[in-house]
Amino acid sequence: MRRGVACGVITRDSGEGDIAVRGDLRTGTFCGGESMTIQEIVNKHGNDREHLLAILHDVQDGSPDNSLHKEAIETLSHIMDITVADIVGTASFYTMFSLQPRGRHIVRLCESPPCYIAGEENILAALEKRLGVKVGETTADGVFTLETTSCLGACGVAPVMMVDDEVYGHLTESEAVRIIETIAASAAA
Ligand code: FES
Repeated sequence: MRRGVACGVITRDSGEGDIAVRGDLRTGTFCGGESMTIQEIVNKHGNDREHLLAILHDVQDGSPDNSLHKEAIETLSHIMDITVADIVGTASFYTMFSLQPRGRHIVRLCESPPCYIAGEENILAALEKRLGVKVGETTADGVFTLETTSCLGACGVAPVMMVDDEVYGHLTESEAVRIIETIAASAAA
């Protein structure tokens, strides 16, 4: 049961996992979709340890800043009877999870050898220039976080970049920038 869930605020009003995971912590104004409580996410997948990764994905996807918040992890720990240290350890192991706030869109450029040889370095420089940030940083407007990653499993179309869940192959510097421009335009609309 969801209680006291307000747009723009992560709230917890009981010890039963009623924590909203969608809202804009930066502006407090965002409420773009259906909020799911942690309890609802766990119910969707099941309470077993084997579902933790899928649950963490959903929790992070629902976060306004693409990260796993301390409060969310504590609530998950309570519901699933898994220690906070265990959840943090799991989340820290996988690069797709972040314990730090990130932008609305995550740009991941593959830096493994096949992509590196195909020109990753120049594409990274072009992305850093367009976004005005270095790897690991978030743009001032909170729209993009730039990351590098190991192989995305699409080496056949190297060099490869992933933005959120979308994979882009055979990249060039100009194409990478064009993709960013398109997403930035729709984010501003
Ligand atoms: S090395 Fe880049 S996708 Fe595999």
